Order: sequence, then C-alpha cells, then structure tokens
Amino acid sequence: MGSRTKLAARVAAAIPCLALWLAALAAQAAPPPAAGIPRLVTADGRTRLEVDGRPFLIRGGELANSSAGSLAAAKAALGRLQGLNLNTVLVPVSWELCEPAEGKLDFSLVGDIVREARRDHLHVILLWFGSWKNGMSSYVPGWVKRDQKRFPRAETAAHQGVESLSAFSATNRDTDARAFAALMRTLRALDGRTHTVLMVQVENEVGTIGEASDHSALAQAAWTAVAPPEAVRALAPAGTPAGATFQQLLGAGPAAEERFQAWHHARYVDTVARAGKAEYPLPMFVNAALNAPGLAPGKYPAAGPLPHLYEIWRAGAPAIDLLAPDIYFPGFATWCELYRRPDNPLFVPEARNEEVVAVNALYAAGQQALGVSPFAIDAISPAAGAALARAYGLLGELAPALLAAGSGRTAGVLVDKDAPKSELTLGGFRLTISHDYTFPWASPARNDAVWPRGGGLVIALADDEYLVAGNGIIVTFAPAPGDPGNPMVGLERVDEGRFEGGRFVVSRRLNGDETHQGRQVRLPMGAFGLQRVKLYRYR
Ligand code: DGJ
Repeated sequence: MGSRTKLAARVAAAIPCLALWLAALAAQAAPPPAAGIPRLVTADGRTRLEVDGRPFLIRGGELANSSAGSLAAAKAALGRLQGLNLNTVLVPVSWELCEPAEGKLDFSLVGDIVREARRDHLHVILLWFGSWKNGMSSYVPGWVKRDQKRFPRAETAAHQGVESLSAFSATNRDTDARAFAALMRTLRALDGRTHTVLMVQVENEVGTIGEASDHSALAQAAWTAVAPPEAVRALAPAGTPAGATFQQLLGAGPAAEERFQAWHHARYVDTVARAGKAEYPLPMFVNAALNAPGLAPGKYPAAGPLPHLYEIWRAGAPAIDLLAPDIYFPGFATWCELYRRPDNPLFVPEARNEEVVAVNALYAAGQQALGVSPFAIDAISPAAGAALARAYGLLGELAPALLAAGSGRTAGVLVDKDAPKSELTLGGFRLTISHDYTFPWASPARNDAVWPRGGGLVIALADDEYLVAGNGIIVTFAPAPGDPGNPMVGLERVDEGRFEGGRFVVSRRLNGDETHQGRQVRLPMGAFGLQRVKLYRYR
C-alpha cells in the first residue's frame, strides 16, 4: 500500500470514531430528552400528537386566567373539573409570578400545579403569559413595567405609550426568552420522564390593539431599515430582489403596517420559543384572537397569527409548530378549516364554554384535530358541563379508532338552523347529514324557536361500514359520485353500542322507528349516541 493510500485508509477508519466523538460532544451540549417526549408526528396524511410513543387525542379545557395564580386556587379549579371527562388541562403560567425580581426565577408554583394535575390523572398544556396577553402586557413583571427606558413600550402614531411591550426591542425579547428558557429547563427536570406536560403555548393572543402597528422610535427605525432576505421572501412576491426597506416592500396603509408588525411579532416569538426548545423541545404553538369580519386592523387585535397572516407567521416563526384559533365567534367550522392545513394540525386552545362546545369538540375530532379546549373550564355551567362530559366520554371511547384512521377516513359534521344539511363523501359513499329537527316527527320536543346545533363525527371503518357519533343529526347514504354500482343503498344493520376495552359492544340493534324503517341513521338531540352502521346495495 502506498503512503497516500495508507493515509486515506487511516482517515476512513477514523471517520466513524470522529462521528461518534462529535455525537458524544453534541449529546453533552444538550442531552437528548427521554424517549417518549410529547411530539408531533406526521404520517398517512395527518399529524398526531404522540405521548410516550402513542397517539393522543386532547380532551382539553383551559382554566380561567387567575385560577392558577396560587396552589389553593389551582387545587380548587382542578377539583371543579371532576366528571367532565377531560384528559388535559390548559394552565396559565404568569411571567410576573415566576420572576418577581429580575433573575430571581421561581417555578415552584408551576411544579406544584403540574404535580397536582398528574395526581388527578390529567395532562397539562402550559400557557406562557409572557410579553403578551390579549395584545397587552399585563403579565410582565413589575420591574419590566416600571422601567420603560430599558423595556420600551409600543406607541401609537401620536407617540402615546400603550400597555404593551414593543416587539422591536431586543431587550424585551431576550428578557422574556431567558425567563421562558428557565421555565422549559425546569419542566425538563420536573417532567422530562413523566410527560404530564404535552405542549406549551408561547405568549397569549399576541396582537396590537388600537392601531395596526407599533409606531415607537424602534418600530420606525425597523420600518425604514433594509429587510433581511427571509423577510423579503415572506412579505414580497417571489423573485423580489433583496435590498429594499420594509416600507418600500410593503407600501402604505393599515394592511401594510399589519404585515410589517406580524413579521416582527413572529420573529420575537420565534426567539422566545427557540430558547425554550433548546432546553426542552416540547411542541409549541401560538393562539390567535380572531379578526371579526369587516373590521380594520387594530379594531381587532392586529398582526397576530391570523388566517390572512398565516404565511408570514409560518415563515417568521419556524420554531412554532402550529398556529391555533381561539374560537369565540360564530362559524366554528369555518374558523377550524382556516387553520386545518397540511402543515398546521388543528388545535383549538380556547372556545366558548357553552353547551355548543360539546358538538364542536366532536366536529373538531372528526376533522382530525389534536383537540379542543373550552375556555374557563373551571367555571363551565352545569348544562354545558354535562354536554361536554358526554361528548368527551364519547371521544374517550372513540380515540383509538379516530387516531388509527388515516387522512380522509373521518369527518366532523355540524348542522343548525342556518345550515341544516351538509354533504360529504367518506368511505365508499356519499353521506347527507341533516339536523334532527329537519324531520318534525322525529323530535317530540321540537320547538322552532330553539335550534340547538347538531353535530358529531363519522369514521369510515371500511368502505361500507361506519361509526357515527353525535347529537341531533340524521345521516343518509347514497352512492359516491360516479360510482357505477347498484344505485340504491340500504342499511344492512345499525347497532347502538359503546367501546369497552377497545371493543365495540352492541347494546341494541336499531331497525324500526329509530332508523325510520331503514331509511336513515339518527342520533337524537340530547342523546350523544354512538352507532355502527353496515350498508348494502340494491337495484
Ligand atoms: C381570550 C384570552 O386568550 C383568554 O386569556 C381570556 O382573556 C378570554 N379571551 C376571555 O374571553
């Protein structure tokens, strides 16, 4: 062997050792988290949350803002969740309470609450109330609030300071990021093996209130600065050359200002999330205060992770795994569909804690959401709590089937007076879902003045076999469009039942009035039922 060949052989032999050594070094820098850490996994066309290696469907509820402000308050709040069939509670963590004096970080309350939830067999999603809470900065520590020179505020166009930190201050951002990183470090020590905590929301409803953007001196300087190439890619048409300022790229007016502000919000939040993930890489998301239709930016909390700013937030905050809507407005399904995207699994961290949330939760699960979480769950009314408990009970039974199904094998449905009918193709058939009240004979309690929303979900177990779960819906079946087979579809059998230990146990066969003599599957209003349906064809 010549000397060059020998050298090459020695280098080749050393490379695996070098690789091992480099891997060992990297491991020292950031030891890999224990196996089974909660994570998002994309397979067969959908994204699931996995905990301890198993897919997990969130049956959530978010505590009211101050219900986790002390251990006693949290214990009382968790006590009120009994019987709701939740498996996850969303818990605020306030920056102000965790860092009462600069650098004096104390997460003992968070630890106590996580342990308390664990004892109650609940998982936890933490909400980092850091720089933003509903577009304001009410949760930042007093030492941040008072020192406006070091921690600058956002300002109106008239240069009036507002009760919100400026997103253009590196000090604001880095001070928040340091506290958040410490929270995640604490979580890793506290929960890195137990996995009670599933995900973390970074900030709360980031937004700018009153005007479309911050007009402080820092914001003005950024507006006239040259935009970095990644901002050009996110904000300007493809092929736009680098070198322009934000102002030149975006033009004038509230919409332009909102896009500018959204980019900087996203970059800020990305830094905070990245600092946290470097300590403990749980899935992280941001939540949006939605924009009421027809309002100008600023009249709604502007520049948050809103549907019309989706691409900007995605590009500006790659450390954020998903953007999530807080749905208080009508049109639950429409908002869900704006956030359910191939690269953005649907999660609804907040929704009205009214009775309708029960069918909305079924809908979202049918649409393969990670889960839903009514707000102020600890203050839910008895009637809404009873409905939610039944919906979540059903979801508990159905979770294995729902999570096993690939993309396009399940669907959510919602019907009410304004949209009493909807159609979809699922499995091998066309399904028409109508509100139970569409059939007057069917509901003895029919009252034209009250049309509660009907809804539920359908799972295609096979092309001719379905699970239908829900409340106040009627389902009929027809051949899928273009299907050349026999034109008529009948119900071979409809069984009411429940899942026990993963097995569907039939409680009774339905074949008379309950199916209108074989014409339809009906889940009566108020029943939150589950039926398994097998179809057949005839001429
Ligand atoms: C949305 C916020 O995210 C919550 O913290 C709470 O303020 C609710 N609004 C109140 O409706």
